[in-house]
Amino acid sequence: MTLTTCVFDAYGTLFDVSSATRRVAEKPGFEHLAAVWPKLSEIWRQKQLQYSWLRAITDAHCPFWDVTQDGLDFAMEALGLSDDLLLREELLALYWELAAYPEVPKMLATLKAQGYKTAILSNGSPDMLKGAVQSAGLEILLDAVLSVDSVGVFKPNAKVYQMVPDHFGCAKDQVLFVSSNGWDAAGASGFGFQTAWVNRAGDPVDRMPWTPHHILSDLTTIPDLARR
Ligand code: LAC
Repeated sequence: MTLTTCVFDAYGTLFDVSSATRRVAEKPGFEHLAAVWPKLSEIWRQKQLQYSWLRAITDAHCPFWDVTQDGLDFAMEALGLSDDLLLREELLALYWELAAYPEVPKMLATLKAQGYKTAILSNGSPDMLKGAVQSAGLEILLDAVLSVDSVGVFKPNAKVYQMVPDHFGCAKDQVLFVSSNGWDAAGASGFGFQTAWVNRAGDPVDRMPWTPHHILSDLTTIPDLARR
């Protein structure tokens, strides 16, 4: 069936989650982060995601903002940074204005010009997503910003992916779902979307019952992929 709709994960896919720690490390007064910021960023992200999965399987949903803070608190403690309250405040503030990857605006504009519907489907809370979309200037390039808060469970629960056909009135196989999270792309394949995994780091494929249909190194080729 012909694709009609291109849907993107937000954090790590359109928005560079490591940009918060990287930017803080560049600020005067945060020189002590010069060596440690990549590790801080990595543990923060891993824990944020782990907590989202634990919340999903224990039926204890909360806003993504809560697991974002919990993940940061774990990461800061793991690296002996718990007392740095200013660092915590700066990092959390920057999470609301994460940088978009450089190819994102042109890629979305090309998809719109080709006639596709475009959307975000994210674990993010609506207010977090609004902040990130606005600060990256992407509002006019997106037809919808869908948050899991509407269904009260995190990815990769099927209720989340079902939000896309429900919103756009399209069939599952008319959707190209794009994520930098291998497990998210795999979950979306299992649901019935066409999927692309953006594997910037060259990571191994996640061992799940499903696999992404396409593996890309960045987002630039998405409009070509959609047309094929
Ligand atoms: C999201 C996370 C999984 O945006 O990156 O949904």
